[in-house]
Amino acid sequence: MSCTNTATNTGTSAGISKQPFGQADAKNVDLYTLTNKNGVQVKISTYGGVVTSWVTPDKNGKASSIVLGFDSLSGYLAKPPYFGALIGRYGNRIANGKFKIGDSSYTLATNNGRNSLHGGNKGFDKVVWTAGAVTDSIPSLELSYLSKDGEEGYPGNLSVKVVYTLTNDNELEITYDATTDKATPVNLTNHSYFNLTGDHANTILDHQLQIDADYYTPVDSDSTLIPTGELKAVKGTPFDFTTAHRIGERIDSVPGGYDHNFVINRKGDGLQQIAVLTDTLSGRKLEVYTTEPGVQFYSGNFLDGSFKDSNGKPFNKHTGLCLETQHFPNSPNEPKFPSTILQPGAKYHTVTKYKISW
Ligand code: GLA
Repeated sequence: MSCTNTATNTGTSAGISKQPFGQADAKNVDLYTLTNKNGVQVKISTYGGVVTSWVTPDKNGKASSIVLGFDSLSGYLAKPPYFGALIGRYGNRIANGKFKIGDSSYTLATNNGRNSLHGGNKGFDKVVWTAGAVTDSIPSLELSYLSKDGEEGYPGNLSVKVVYTLTNDNELEITYDATTDKATPVNLTNHSYFNLTGDHANTILDHQLQIDADYYTPVDSDSTLIPTGELKAVKGTPFDFTTAHRIGERIDSVPGGYDHNFVINRKGDGLQQIAVLTDTLSGRKLEVYTTEPGVQFYSGNFLDGSFKDSNGKPFNKHTGLCLETQHFPNSPNEPKFPSTILQPGAKYHTVTKYKISW
């Protein structure tokens, strides 16, 4: 069944509903609620394609949201650090905001010291997306955005389509598709901050994390978080999550905390389980699957309490963590990294799935 407005659906029965969420850039913003038959409920805003809340039961049947977010659009307009958002045109950093494709040199908006981060000043997290096809049976929402030639310095008109689907196996599947009319770097991801306890009074330091990566990309010594280009073995380092470790166990020996790209042990091109996050307090488990070659594990190091939820409770350091599936940071300047250049006529297509159980 296909419908664009299920006004009779209150959001508590399975299906999809929408409600007005305010205005940005003089455009109406909607908030869609996707509910599956197990009562898992994901809310997605057309502003930034943001996952604003993701409610699941815990082991005692108590429901709460496993992601950091706000109840109102104003929370997002205040520019929190990418809470729940779709990230593009290039997720992660491009050194000095510069790259070349063939003989053409490009300069991007720099918004992270001297580097360009997550698409520049106004990335895909800060634009209003157009909601397209909506399906009810297995709740699914299509969002599209046309990023114009020259936007934030990127070449080519990039037509992007993202589909969020909430399955009855409690998976949030995100498919990313794009085409361009000029060669351009593309690296799309979602920036949800997970806290499986469902309460950001708790940090994520007691969560256990496993990442299927024997290598990671170490970063420059002046800590602008640009990879050196080397792939470094995780064995014997605090980056070894090949077996599950408590996040807090070795974090003090990582200057600044975890904010690194892990090189997935790829087994072909398909969707592959790459990370498992568990929390004993709530009994929740999050499995991450992706077609991407990398994942940025970010332990919420820059959260400093300056943003607060709608009840005034601050988002403090380490109260959320991101597992941003992606190509490697700064790939346009690292010929040895898997290419992120999308050519005209080619199709960008990646899939990431977050499966929650409790
Ligand atoms: C990404 C980056 C981090 C930080 C956050 C937002 O995950 O890798 O360094 O910028 O976004 O605060």
